[in-house]
Amino acid sequence: MPPDRLGISRFIPTSRLSLLRQVADLSAGFGSPAYLVGGFVRDALLGKPINDFDLVIEGDATKLGRALVQKHGGRVTVHAPFKTATWFPSHRPERSEARSKGEDDFIDLISARSETYEHPAALPTVKLGSLADDLRRRDFTINAMAVRLDGDHFGELADPLGGRIDLERGLVRVLHLNSFVDDPTRLFRAVRYAARYDFQLESSTEALIPAALKYVDKLSPERLRHELDLIFEEEDSVPMLEKLWTLGIIQQVHPALPSDEATRARVRGVVLVLTAVENPVHFRWAVWLMGLMPKEIRALSKRLHFSAELLRAASAASSVFAELKSIAKLRPSGCVRRLNGLPEDALWAVSVCAEGEARSNLEMYLKKWKSMKPYATGETLFEMGVPFGPRVGEILWRLRAAWLDGEVTSEEGERKLMEKLIE
Ligand code: CTP
Repeated sequence: MPPDRLGISRFIPTSRLSLLRQVADLSAGFGSPAYLVGGFVRDALLGKPINDFDLVIEGDATKLGRALVQKHGGRVTVHAPFKTATWFPSHRPERSEARSKGEDDFIDLISARSETYEHPAALPTVKLGSLADDLRRRDFTINAMAVRLDGDHFGELADPLGGRIDLERGLVRVLHLNSFVDDPTRLFRAVRYAARYDFQLESSTEALIPAALKYVDKLSPERLRHELDLIFEEEDSVPMLEKLWTLGIIQQVHPALPSDEATRARVRGVVLVLTAVENPVHFRWAVWLMGLMPKEIRALSKRLHFSAELLRAASAASSVFAELKSIAKLRPSGCVRRLNGLPEDALWAVSVCAEGEARSNLEMYLKKWKSMKPYATGETLFEMGVPFGPRVGEILWRLRAAWLDGEVTSEEGERKLMEKLIE
């Protein structure tokens, strides 16, 4: 067994490790070494949990994909223009269960490449290149390291741009002066890594930001929203937003995106109700946007291509937030009438930002009232002689409201009320 100089095998599940070795050994036989790159190396050196196993081949990854199928079986899909391939070592039916659990039954093979940008924020033009080219095209030194995987080279670190030193010093540093202009998503990424690892933006990197701000505007809706979503997927997104505000980055996205002190205080003050919230990203968007008017939300949705669900969550949060005073005065049945069917992550967001009666009404709705139903059903009413039709719904609602507002407290009480309503 070759020496694992950095101890990286600790970070790779055994089944994936053996696949990666198969790939790397075959690839090295063609004179094309294979490397794990980017986030894997960064997080392994930091001793953090790893999600990504990005593999770069110094050579043609599509050829390698075909050779893997010849030697080890399985199948390969090829994306010719970018010379990338995906190897599925086995497509036995029992493996589909493994895939659905997120286990490793395929490996993406990426050819090392160089990238150039025709204009600011353009998608890059890609050409095959060396590992050194591939590392140079990346965003930050800490993301521009690779470890080799074949034979005796297993675990050798390639770090031509000083990533390891920056990791030790806790610095996020771009690789060249045009980095943020080429790809303004890096403004968001820089802030995300700095806050995630409690690093600093290296001073000359930070000094490049003001001049790059104007290019944020050139990013497509999808790329912009993706960056903001990535921030909201982080466990601790608040310091990231704070830093984006301080650097003036958020303010470049869209004038309707709120940056005022009241919003910032609300975002800072909110704790995610982890046990209750289904989609933390929507919850965090809702906290941020609930102070906006519907037309501002629509404008943002257009600029950032919100999904239909995100638009629904943001719109619901904004309308309920605007009505907190009246929600505070509603009886339980009134709350159910008003809130029924609205996205719950949005309601959780508004409830944690509300106070007094409004907060407790929202919480009671989410925890209890929304699922309170009478014993009777349409069937019961039919048996009692009420024909199917709108009246059934009206009576059932009256019964539900009676339970909600404490007018009835027992099955017997419900029955009496039902008889009265049917008369
Ligand atoms: N990368 C880049 N510029 C970008 C996006 C990505 O240079 N705008 C490079 C970086 O080397 C990065 C790698 O592509 O490490 C993979 O990108 P991604 O999966 O977005 O990031 P990770 O490094 O895996 O980090 P995270 O933990 O945030 O997913």
